[in-house]
Formats: sequence, structure tokens, C-alpha cells
Amino acid sequence: MVAERTFIAIKPDGVQRGLIGEILGRFERKGFKLIALKQIIPSRELAEKHYGIHREKPFFSGLVDFITSGPVVAMVLEGDGVITSARTLIGATKPLEANPGTIRGDLAVNIGRNVIHGSDGPDTSAFEIGLWFQPSEINNWSPSDQIWRVESE
Ligand code: RTP
Ligand code: MG
Repeated sequence: MVAERTFIAIKPDGVQRGLIGEILGRFERKGFKLIALKQIIPSRELAEKHYGIHREKPFFSGLVDFITSGPVVAMVLEGDGVITSARTLIGATKPLEANPGTIRGDLAVNIGRNVIHGSDGPDTSAFEIGLWFQPSEINNWSPSDQIWRVESE
């Protein structure tokens, strides 16, 4: 059985502001396993599919303009409960309402420049991972520190 996975993207504002390391570090320190990572300038087609659920919203075209405006750092994280936990680490959509300690709470002020995206459920995560990554770009690996040994004698 495949462990739970989520799709995370550092948006163009996070890349431009030099926050890639800060954000990756938070997920790494939390302990989720990084199984795919790349930098990509999304095409309009990709961005429109990714945010397709918001197609009818007034902010849709501005959102697509923004997400295609420069490099995005896209990744897949794996681990039990990772979808909900990543959303908790990310914080509320409106950065001014996001709790301190969350990525948006600590690093953003503007809803249109909220630094990061995270899948909001299992169906969305499967769809988004398939949209942004080829299967060959996803690495199945076992962290060596998961094999704990007690030395006897
Ligand atoms: P995301 O999909 O980017 O992870 O954000 P989210 O789940 O927290 O929020 P969602 O409702 O899916 O909205 C997607 C993105 O659209 C922009 N937005 N602008 N101007 C507005 O009222 C408005 N509302 C949403 C935000 O950048 C949000 O992250
Ligand atoms: Mg969303």
C-alpha cells in the first residue's frame, strides 16, 4: 500500500523572496519524507488545471497570472497524516488570519501572495501529484534512520 502523499508548491513570491530553504526546512524538520522536488515555471494550461476548481471565481485569472509569473518549487511529501499536517503547517489561506508559527502566519501578509500551496484532501493530492509530476520523477526510498538498532553484546 502506498503511504499518504501530498503535493506542495512554493509559489513565485516564495521563490522570489528567497524563502525556499526556510520552507523546505520546516517540512524536513517536521519529519515528512521528500519524494519528489523540482523547480518549474508553470504553463497557463498547467496552472488553469491546478486551480480549475476556482475557474468561476473573480480572482481566477489573477491567480493564474501570478502562479505562471516565475519559478515555482514543486514537491511531493509522504507520511502518515501528511495532507492535513502540511495544511496545518501552512496555515490559513488569509495570511493575516494564519496563526503565528505557521508558514503563512510567519512569512506572508497578502492573500494573493501567500507563499505556498498544499493539497486539501486525498483526491486533490492524487490529482495534483499526477498533474505536476511524471511517475519517474517520484523516488521511493527508505530513510536510513528509520532502521533503529539496539546493539546486543
Ligand atoms: P492553495 O490552494 O493555494 O493552497 O490555497 P488554499 O487552499 O488555502 O485556498 P483556496 O481557497 O484553494 O484558494 C486558492 C488561492 O487563491 C487565492 N485566493 N485569492 N482574492 C481572493 O479572495 C482569493 N481567494 C483565494 C489565494 O492565493 C489562495 O491561496
Ligand atoms: Mg486550495
